[in-house]
Amino acid sequence: MAGKPSVKLGSTPACLLSGVEVRLSRVSDGVPSMIESSRVLYAREAGLDVAEFRRVLVESGLGAIRPVDDEARLRMMLSAANLIVTARLDEPGNSLVGVARCVTDFSWCCYLSELAVCASAQNLGIGKGLLDEARRQLGPSVSLILASVPDAVGFYERAGMAKLPDAFWYKREY
Ligand SMILES: CC(C)(COP(=O)(O)OP(=O)(O)OC[C@H]1O[C@@H](n2cnc3c(N)ncnc32)[C@H](O)[C@@H]1OP(=O)(O)O)[C@@H](O)C(=O)NCCC(=O)NCCS
Repeated sequence: MAGKPSVKLGSTPACLLSGVEVRLSRVSDGVPSMIESSRVLYAREAGLDVAEFRRVLVESGLGAIRPVDDEARLRMMLSAANLIVTARLDEPGNSLVGVARCVTDFSWCCYLSELAVCASAQNLGIGKGLLDEARRQLGPSVSLILASVPDAVGFYERAGMAKLPDAFWYKREY
């Protein structure tokens, strides 16, 4: 992980935390991915814009199981969350490519409700970078808990998370 850059993300009231150079080369049809050589900036952003959040949900695929057509609900999800970590490209526009939305007491536990990386930026280490940044924000006394979609189970295992055989929940009805 690189040092801490001192730049600010446009007008976003972000606390810039760390920048990581994405070096993996993803090539499709001989054309390097646009973000192949971009730096990725991880930040805690309390005031993430609802349209940006929605776009990443949709472009990651997670939008299929999140209320992307209910703006009021999305807005509430953002305003009531107290740890939102973003991944943005370090280039003009600071495009949002990933987000982790968490609810935590910063003392004992944290629930990670959404971890999403745009499809165009997946498999470049950004999901792991968001997890790492969330954990860094929380510190070692806080456990990070989440419910994975089936397709992401391997990702969380690869990230070193332990599976809970005895977790329980009441499912929301809608
Ligand atoms: C799951 C997701 C967040 C992972 O983010 P990502 O940026 O693509 O993953 P990373 O590049 O950080 O991957 C880190 C490691 O996990 C591996 N990995 C990534 N996705 C994986 C998957 N679905 N299954 C198994 N391993 C996976 C990578 O190959 C990489 O391995 P390496 O350390 O050997 O190189 C992202 O693919 C995504 O947004 N998916 C759609 C939405 C979703 O399912 N979110 C999770 C909801 S619970």
